[in-house]
Amino acid sequence: MFGKFSRRQFARLAGLSALGIATSARSADRDARPVSDRHAAAGFPKDFIWGTATSSYQIEGAVDEDGRGRSIWDTFSHTPGKIADGSNADRANDHYHRYRQDVGLIKQLGVKAYRFSIAWPRVFPEGTGAPNPKGLDFYDRLLDELLHNGIEPYATLYHWDLPQALQDRVGGWQSSDTSKAFADYAGYVAQRLTDRVKNIFTINEAGRFVNFGYGWGIDAPGLKLPLAELNQARHHVVLGHGLAVQAIRAHGRGGTKVGFAENIAACVPAIDTPENVRATEMATRELNAGFLSVILEGQYTEGFLEYSGAAAPKFTADELKIIASPNDFVGLNIYAPQFYIAASDKKPGWTVLPFPASRIGPEVIYWAPRIAAKIWNLDTIYISENGTSSEDKLAADGQVYDLDRVMFLRNYLTQLQRATSEGVPVRGYFLWSLMDNFEWIFGFEQRFGLYHVDFDTQARLPKMSVSFYRDVVARNAIGA
Ligand code: FCB
Repeated sequence: MFGKFSRRQFARLAGLSALGIATSARSADRDARPVSDRHAAAGFPKDFIWGTATSSYQIEGAVDEDGRGRSIWDTFSHTPGKIADGSNADRANDHYHRYRQDVGLIKQLGVKAYRFSIAWPRVFPEGTGAPNPKGLDFYDRLLDELLHNGIEPYATLYHWDLPQALQDRVGGWQSSDTSKAFADYAGYVAQRLTDRVKNIFTINEAGRFVNFGYGWGIDAPGLKLPLAELNQARHHVVLGHGLAVQAIRAHGRGGTKVGFAENIAACVPAIDTPENVRATEMATRELNAGFLSVILEGQYTEGFLEYSGAAAPKFTADELKIIASPNDFVGLNIYAPQFYIAASDKKPGWTVLPFPASRIGPEVIYWAPRIAAKIWNLDTIYISENGTSSEDKLAADGQVYDLDRVMFLRNYLTQLQRATSEGVPVRGYFLWSLMDNFEWIFGFEQRFGLYHVDFDTQARLPKMSVSFYRDVVARNAIGA
């Protein structure tokens, strides 16, 4: 049991080291309390919102039920060779039928907020036109269950499952018809659900689905558009966001809060000198020009227009005004640093350094919100997603000891606490994800969940990170 030590040797070693600690602690420090009692846990603000997140296509399943139309992800995942493990999300977590149990899992975490998404093709199977009479029934049930359990719903309207009909008819986001259709859908949902949903995210990760879906052909709808057309699609997405904000304000109850969730091109100062921090602020504006900057500033940066040249999007002054409709909050999805920045004597005053071999960089969750708050003068930021996949295996005793995830979360939350303790206005945190689910092109091969899911039996099992997160949430603090 004690490996190469005998029981007696072990006792002797343990005794000696205990004595060593006691001696040095006494001489170095006059506080009579044991060291372990003197460390203060690092607290978060009193009303900090702890939550977790999922999205419709990744968990719901039931793709043919209650009049749901097809989405571009149904088509894409059924196209051979697109998904790493050849899977699709026809069944996924079967959350459509198991939502009650899943709300129970959220409750067990002790969190008070849940970010989920609404499937547009359930509500408008053809993208526009007549709403499906049963389209919102599932969300009605889900909302009631959440509220009954004291969990505040945060709804996302677009987490990538565009109605296939819109893709077929007008080329999806290649047309501003889709921006308008999105606003109509947003207004309809707002009218129907804002008696219970007080916070709405319009679009999730515009940067990701535009570049991956319309530029590189990796995600649905799998297009590889030339730059000018890609920039135009990008423009229609931010326009769709702005129109949706206006529709929600027009049709939702007073007091409904609206924002968006973006995977900010997250920049970190390579070395945190004032010059590099300033350079990182400039870089953040430029590297997010097509999404965050235009939404929050109402104009495309000079750098973006200059760089795009003839491929710049076509737009009107009126559209820019719509795009910049005021938001109540900004959601940042933060997983890993994307750029390390240093100051430069040459124009534009900053430079991107070669990326380090290790992708670990928990300080990104400190810098990204700090810099975003400064350059765009934000007062309410949510970390709308953060988390990690890991090699989660069932151990011989049937448990999942996902210490990689625990380590990841401990480091990120330590940096997040550093941000809030300095007054960076991060008001809440949504851990991605509640449970393992369909991870897009990786199928079921990448597991991001706090709960392990057996996709054959649909059994949910808390991983070790559930205990970790529950403890952080309960104490509103990180560290012991
Ligand atoms: C984000 C997506 C989310 C999930 C996580 C891992 O980019 O918004 O759906 O795939 O990554």
